[in-house]
Amino acid sequence: MSATDNAFDLLVHKAFIIPSCEVYGGIGGFYDFGPLGTRVKQRMLSAWRDWCLRQEGFFEIDGSVVVRKEVLVASGHVKSFIDPMVKCGKCQEAFRADHLIEEQLKRNVEGTSVEGMNKILSKSKVFCPSCGTRLPAAIEEFHMMFPLSVGAGKKMIEGYLRPETAQTIFIDFPKIFKATREKLPLGIAQLGRSFRNEISPRQGLIRLREFEQLEIEIFLDPEKIDEVAGWEKLKGTAVTLRKVDGGDEIASVEALLGKRLIPNKYVAYWLAKEALFYEKVLGIPSDKFRFRFLGPDETPFYSKGNIDMEVSTDYGWKETIGNAYRTDHDLGTHAKSSGKDFAVTVDGKKFVPHVVEPSWGLQRMFYAALEHAYRPKDRDREWAWFALPAWLAPYDVNVFSLVKKDGLSEKAEEVNSTLSAAGLSTFCDHSGSIGKRYARADEMGVPCCVTIDYQTKEDGTVTVRDRDTMKQVRVGMAYLAAMIRGRAKPPLGIT
Ligand code: ATP
Ligand code: GLY
Repeated sequence: MSATDNAFDLLVHKAFIIPSCEVYGGIGGFYDFGPLGTRVKQRMLSAWRDWCLRQEGFFEIDGSVVVRKEVLVASGHVKSFIDPMVKCGKCQEAFRADHLIEEQLKRNVEGTSVEGMNKILSKSKVFCPSCGTRLPAAIEEFHMMFPLSVGAGKKMIEGYLRPETAQTIFIDFPKIFKATREKLPLGIAQLGRSFRNEISPRQGLIRLREFEQLEIEIFLDPEKIDEVAGWEKLKGTAVTLRKVDGGDEIASVEALLGKRLIPNKYVAYWLAKEALFYEKVLGIPSDKFRFRFLGPDETPFYSKGNIDMEVSTDYGWKETIGNAYRTDHDLGTHAKSSGKDFAVTVDGKKFVPHVVEPSWGLQRMFYAALEHAYRPKDRDREWAWFALPAWLAPYDVNVFSLVKKDGLSEKAEEVNSTLSAAGLSTFCDHSGSIGKRYARADEMGVPCCVTIDYQTKEDGTVTVRDRDTMKQVRVGMAYLAAMIRGRAKPPLGIT
């Protein structure tokens, strides 16, 4: 049917995603979610909220995407949010110098200074991926935030599009702490857009200039960092951890914590939650993702221990979640810069809370789930398709009539309305042969299709075709909605 060789092509072909401003030549690093992508995204977010935020003491906020410059001066972004850029002397195209060195020389240079990378470029040859010219040892620091001015005249304020959602949570913390009965631990989440002027956005949804983050800042008493509610239920979860020396260790989060391979119990708890979500909700096999302890050179300046989740993709192993032990760095710097009090008093003790942060990226998670659900065409099917878990599929079911005549299409519309009224997401497709309609449903990842035929008129049964096995069974109308709904429920998070 469609000429799609990989997950990304199929996503674009079916308009799950649409390159932004495509009719005017596109704009690198920006993608729109089309109708199917929006449905999958909403379902993913809803499953995520159930998995991560259904715990006592966890709240969600929704802050503005524009922040004052002072916020990002205090956080360190204005000074440090920079990437190394190298420009081709011939075609003038700009690239991330560290990425090219990693790709072409197979050297990991995270944390290496600009001078260090310039030395590498003067000794070893790295070439422009566009025109093939050798790149000069002239790397510059490139600032990654989008500046903007808000308002006009005397009241004009300098600001930025936020590069992470976390900062709003930190600066709103005193108000939220007060409004939520002044208890710790306190988890404040924000799901929203972040903006980074990436030098060379590429690899589909992996490196974008506008993307969504699902961040949780967990504020806690550092003296109680070992008191994690729910630990007993999750401590036995096995994960793969890539150590700083490059070796992999597969063990329970409790065992890894015992060996000090995880910074603290809160981070260990969240690694378990993340691993279970990736496997059970997103459907990504556990040998296709791992955690990686970042070495001192890669650890952000604000963190006392970072562990990334990485997923194996068509583009290589890619970070999809960053976990950081941010200590009291952010509240401390905002207290100093704003002159406001960010300390709390709990049980008669006054202190600045510490923070553990799981920071998930939506588009990378979305892409990873769809890539792992992608099935190329084969002997059984002449079309590529998505074996998405039913609870992430854009529709629960599609309804067809075997033929349009003899009242069958009207009956199909009726069944479709009944399923919709039962709370299922469904639509009725009348166009093309039945085989083409099954193929279209498979391409969208719809887990099952209901077909109305002549027997339906006689005994009220319909055929239900399963996407994964292509097998059909006859089901009575009375059981249909419950059967489809049963499959569409995502597993609930363990809290
Ligand atoms: P990378 O090293 O790949 O640039 P990062 O370390 O800058 O990623 P973080 O700052 O830890 O990423 O951001 C947290 C999460 O936000 C990432 O794990 C990722 O899922 C998402 N994210 C960050 N930058 C981008 C981007 N440019 N495009 C899409 N998602 C992103
Ligand atoms: N809030 C962590 C990050 O975006 O890097």
